[in-house]
Amino acid sequence: MTDSLTPRSASGRPDASGAGSVLVIVPTYNERENVQIILDRLLTAVPSADALVVDDGSPDGTGEVADKIAASDDRVHVMHRSAKQGLGAAYVAGFRWGLDAGYDVLVEMDADGSHAPEQLPRLLAALRHADLVLGSRWVPGGEVVNWSKGREILSRGGNLYTKLAMGIDLGDVTGGYRAYRRSVLESIDLSRVASEGYCFQVDLAWRAIQGGFRVTEVPITFAEREIGESKMSSDIIREALVKVTEWGATHRLAQLKKLVSTTLKGG
Ligand code: GDD
Ligand code: MN
Repeated sequence: MTDSLTPRSASGRPDASGAGSVLVIVPTYNERENVQIILDRLLTAVPSADALVVDDGSPDGTGEVADKIAASDDRVHVMHRSAKQGLGAAYVAGFRWGLDAGYDVLVEMDADGSHAPEQLPRLLAALRHADLVLGSRWVPGGEVVNWSKGREILSRGGNLYTKLAMGIDLGDVTGGYRAYRRSVLESIDLSRVASEGYCFQVDLAWRAIQGGFRVTEVPITFAEREIGESKMSSDIIREALVKVTEWGATHRLAQLKKLVSTTLKGG
């Protein structure tokens, strides 16, 4: 891997919410027109935050646009990766960098405006009583704007299947707008996170739940992007379906073994 970026230390600017120093990780692939807009909105909404753009060598020059922004604002950092390696891999690289740099809170945010930076204070405030806060479309007060019926069915269906298969009691476990306390990510062996696509989100929530961390949801308004294209693909859906089924089966088997052993001991 050719990640080029020198580790540095967290700015030390504590966030107003009391959450500590905040790094917002923004993965990008062909988001040339979106990257400036999202960084402007973010640093206006939460001026104390730093941002790390993780660009997978976007052919449209997103990385260079981000470099220009970084040159004039020391809150902005850019990690250049050689090729498109998936959302999960981009976040793992971003988390590693943020943990090394000493940030207290690491946030996931899409570059395309679907995750409103103006709602980030809400996520950070909820960290007061949680270790991982999920921005949720599918809890009361949450909503999606301008999404196609197909995407809505995919998201609702994906969440329902994940809940049933894995026994997760959350409204939106596939969403990508989140705030993690560093302790959650430190507890996870990131080298073992193999999810490439969007099932990365389920993977990390599941690891946090199993690690006994407090996971909570706050409602968000998810607005479909106006510029550029989604990178959702049939490969991403297939990976999610296979992985969720595997995780669910492993979990159910463990539950069953536990039940059998208690029953045998009891009888
Ligand atoms: N570096 C990098 N590498 N960035 C990527 C890659 C990749 O391989 N794939 C996607 N991205 C970036 C996009 O450029 C964008 O900033 C963000 O990740 C989200 O990608 P979209 O393609 O816009 O995702 P979406 O809108 O279809 O899906 C959103 O909702 C899903 C749940 O419904 C995302 O938030 C997903 O994470 C989420 O699971
Ligand atoms: Mn999007």
